[in-house]
Amino acid sequence: MSVLRVPGDKSISHRALLLAALGDGPSEIRGLLVSADVEATARALRALGVAVPPLDATVMVVPGVGLRGLRAPTEPIDCANSGTTARLVAGLVAGAGLDATLVGDVSLSRRPMRRIAEPLRAMGATVALPSHDGLPMTVRATALHGLTWRSPVASAQVKSAVLLAGLVAQVPVEVHEPQPTRDHTERLLASRGVDLVRDSTMVALRPTGRLDAGPTDVPGDPSSATFLLGAVALGAASTLRLEHIGVNPTRMGAVAVLRRMGLSVRLEGMRQVGGEPVADLVATSVGDLSPGGSGGLGGAPSALLGVTIGPDEVPVLIDELPLLACVAARAAGETRVTGAGELRVKESDRIRLVVENLQAVGVEAEELADGFVIRGGDGPLAGRVRTAGDHRIAMAFGVLGAVPGNAIVVDDPSCVAVSWPSFWDALDACRR
Ligand code: S3P
Repeated sequence: MSVLRVPGDKSISHRALLLAALGDGPSEIRGLLVSADVEATARALRALGVAVPPLDATVMVVPGVGLRGLRAPTEPIDCANSGTTARLVAGLVAGAGLDATLVGDVSLSRRPMRRIAEPLRAMGATVALPSHDGLPMTVRATALHGLTWRSPVASAQVKSAVLLAGLVAQVPVEVHEPQPTRDHTERLLASRGVDLVRDSTMVALRPTGRLDAGPTDVPGDPSSATFLLGAVALGAASTLRLEHIGVNPTRMGAVAVLRRMGLSVRLEGMRQVGGEPVADLVATSVGDLSPGGSGGLGGAPSALLGVTIGPDEVPVLIDELPLLACVAARAAGETRVTGAGELRVKESDRIRLVVENLQAVGVEAEELADGFVIRGGDGPLAGRVRTAGDHRIAMAFGVLGAVPGNAIVVDDPSCVAVSWPSFWDALDACRR
């Protein structure tokens, strides 16, 4: 059995940096993801006057400037490819009443920003967007007031932008979501002494005057872990133990789907680390009777079954859909995903790219307006995959390409640097 760790959770890493920067003293962060996206958040904070040291995955200390300590940037803030950076930092600068312009790469500049501009405007911010609804976005200094926001889209980034704006402006905010989304911001805020009331689709923040400094232990990223679970499901890797993975229920949808497809995944040593549930994930390939292996169902492609994924499930597995699509390519029968229109506004149009790339390597796949249909098979797959610079497309097809007998070329393997710079080494390390 291979035993591996995956890098720190990307969502928690962004938030750990942002909240450390706003703390009333220095905060230690352990296990931070060091990747291009998280670098973008660190760069944004430095531009706002926070002395964020070079990122360190082992341990680093961020000197907090307090809720009133941010300074206006002298140049546009470059959010690169990172949607979380752009949307959460917009909330921060609006809350602080600073003038700031946010820019990004070609992909990020096309992604929807109206979804955060609208609630920030409703709080009193002046936010200018280009007519195509993307970046550059310019926020002008104004004083904010409290807000109750019913978000039409289930987005943790929208929810977090409003919470951060309320936190920094010290005004009450309440966000209602159509479906529960990842709640890392809420968990981290609560651990820092912020007064929050919440249920599964509502969170309300009351001003408390300050944000405590404190340590964060960033668990392994379950979205990254899913790529290696997918490798086991596809028979590209044998039994695998992934240590210290975040198992927050708002992130576990892909594990549930992989189990429905036939993979055996156990959660072992469940514990709470800094307000987040953490466990080791053990995925067992078919017929593995070694110590630690369960000889369970998962593993051989022929043992995998197609599944149906509907709108209710989408928010808890949205980032994992490219990988699940690649697993579905080797599952018996049809896999149908609907209610996933948000995939079209991720780092790429992931509906179109997943379908085009599956077709390019010989899989029967069909595009829907809000999802896709895939008919799995056993034949060898070969061809060239276009990533459009999207890290999750590269990794998903990298996993499919690691299946013995497949010959898949990913056009831009280096784009994995956005979330997992050493992905290809990790995939090699767990291959059969
Ligand atoms: C994220 C939220 C999700 C997710 C993204 C990270 C976050 O986006 O897809 O990769 O860290 O808050 P949305 O908020 O747009 O759904």
